[in-house]
Amino acid sequence: MQTLWDHRYALRTQNMSGSTIRELLKLTQEPDIISFAGGLPAPEVFPVEEFSEACVRVLKDHGAQALQYGTTEGYQPLREMIARHSNQYGIQVTAENIMITSGSQQALDLIGKVFINPGDRILVESPTYLGALQAWNAYNAQYVTVPSDENGIMVDELESALRCGPKFMYVLPNFQNPTGVTIPLERRQKLVELAEQYGVPIIEDDPYGRLRFEGQHVPAVEVLDDRLHPNNGCYHGNVIYLSTFSKILAPGIRLAWVIASPNVIQKLVMAKQGSDLHTSTFNQMTAYQVAQHGFIDKHVMKIIDVYRQRRDIMLEELKNTMPAGVTWTRPQGGLFLWVTLPKQFDTSEVLLKAVKKRVAFVPGVAFHADKSGKNTMRLNFSNAQPDMIRIGIQRLAETFKETI
Ligand SMILES: Cc1ncc(COP(=O)(O)O)c(C=O)c1O
Repeated sequence: MQTLWDHRYALRTQNMSGSTIRELLKLTQEPDIISFAGGLPAPEVFPVEEFSEACVRVLKDHGAQALQYGTTEGYQPLREMIARHSNQYGIQVTAENIMITSGSQQALDLIGKVFINPGDRILVESPTYLGALQAWNAYNAQYVTVPSDENGIMVDELESALRCGPKFMYVLPNFQNPTGVTIPLERRQKLVELAEQYGVPIIEDDPYGRLRFEGQHVPAVEVLDDRLHPNNGCYHGNVIYLSTFSKILAPGIRLAWVIASPNVIQKLVMAKQGSDLHTSTFNQMTAYQVAQHGFIDKHVMKIIDVYRQRRDIMLEELKNTMPAGVTWTRPQGGLFLWVTLPKQFDTSEVLLKAVKKRVAFVPGVAFHADKSGKNTMRLNFSNAQPDMIRIGIQRLAETFKETI
């Protein structure tokens, strides 16, 4: 049925077309499918009890404030807590550097709103986070891509991309979505130096940094940039850092934060006012209650134990079952690993066969701004139960063997 709206969509909606991948993924939502497709945390580790108690406490002790409008920047005690937490990881910031958002996805959208003019080029890793491309496509962004390997973005290829004059560069240094790889310190250092040399600011998206199963923590890109722009506790550098409570508490509360210089925060605040006024006061106050007294540090240990076990099972099953020619990454943390098939295969077609065997993944092309990566795929290991991971990978291996 046609309505009067049908010919009135803004030009920008032309770039919002629901991808064929999304259509394919609808197939993966049937109940008997083992899905490695989503990016969902394990529901078993949600701190339901803690939230339940915190909700009651917030309503009892601060009910009127919790149910009232709040400031766009976010709940001050939560901002201060995030500042203290960031300081522990070497990010020298105060609450002035922090804005709370309704998920990091909102932060990506607000960044698009504030910085992207139609046709602006954004430098992204190839592959990169699908949700960032979706957010910025709506602002008619163009992309300059830099390939990545098992150590993330290839900094040797960065200079030619920086010469294209991108508006900013977008990187995911820890346990990247989709590949699971982490950028080592030397590459981060080089990245920051080149960005400084070419005058290109950086968006650092870090939802998974706390979920490290093994190996050493690597300083954030923002920390390295901070060393180039020393400050007195209030960050004034060229990085906008994003992180979220989605993977360390629960995604349903839609709570995340941006760290940036105060000038950038001010602009983002104005953009957010036009978007949702502020993030739910009640959720912020409840998450603050839950997070107090070092709860997140303890809780993260629990999540890590579960995810490490699931990653190990997936890696073991891949090793036991996959035909020759199939390779995969070995992430040291996070939620995902990345599988590469021989060049001639198209994983979108493989997905149709896999779904018939009741197993699903996301075809890698979805994460490539330049539509490359047809022979790759993302597997999520956090959401399925261990025995389902084994069966799912066996089904996938059977599918590959019939295809390859
Ligand atoms: C790299 C990356 N950025 C942002 C997000 C969005 O997170 P949020 O739930 O905070 O909106 C995700 C979610 O999976 C992600 O993987």
